[in-house]
Amino acid sequence: MDKRPIGVFDSGLGGLSTVRAMKKILPNEDIIYFGDTGRVPYGSRSNETIETYAAQDIRFLESFSCKMIVAACGTVSTVAADLIEKISEPATGITKPSAKAAALATTNNIIGVMGTSATVNSNAFEEEIRKTNPDAKVVSVACPMLVSLVENNWIDIDDEVANAAVKRYLKPILQAGADTIILGCTHFPILAPIIQKIAGGYVKLIDTGYEEAMYVKTVLRKNDIENSATHKGAQKFFVSDKTQNFCDVANVLLGEDIESKCEFIDIFKHI
Ligand code: DGL
Repeated sequence: MDKRPIGVFDSGLGGLSTVRAMKKILPNEDIIYFGDTGRVPYGSRSNETIETYAAQDIRFLESFSCKMIVAACGTVSTVAADLIEKISEPATGITKPSAKAAALATTNNIIGVMGTSATVNSNAFEEEIRKTNPDAKVVSVACPMLVSLVENNWIDIDDEVANAAVKRYLKPILQAGADTIILGCTHFPILAPIIQKIAGGYVKLIDTGYEEAMYVKTVLRKNDIENSATHKGAQKFFVSDKTQNFCDVANVLLGEDIESKCEFIDIFKHI
């Protein structure tokens, strides 16, 4: 039994899709979440900047003696994979579990990837998919505007702007005939109802938050570092800008009022 918390981070709100899944799949685990809301988005920045930010985020979480570090950010997972591998505790990003799930789910071997510009430029999903399914055709589309929509809480299934943006980004993926789409940025599972509506019911969406949470469960088991089955997992949230907007979206997503659990931190003190 290991009582230490699991550290989860993202550039902002997106990683809450992983937390949402972890709360269901790992109800006994304590979670420390850091959302770098003061510096979001990461996905349009240089690889060097993304690596620097990711290193600071990891250092902040390590100050809580976490038993595992979870990069709940597609951009960090794809661009700074080496950094995640070097973490001394068990650690993961979203790339491997989601790519594997997509590679196994497709029946026509055409897979769409929606991600940030940095993620799409990295080709990381494509490379990872090919390890399981060498014949897959992968169509990747950078969807940077979707990150801002989520950060601004424009996530309602009927939101006109969100629907128009999703429709435009999905076009090349649907035209290519993809039967499986990886929501390759953790902000995107939050828009899944809109994406599913536009893609059609026959398209399988790979929820990176769910796949990552399932993978975390496997790692905890394998390393024998699960918390006690009688412990009720608690969450604590830290953000690098004002807490209000983060809490507004988190309250809806997690189905509880997190205001008393959310705090501002000065990430520059962890450089
Ligand atoms: N959640 C991040 C990702 O998964 C958001 C992207 C960003 O900060 O641009 O890539």
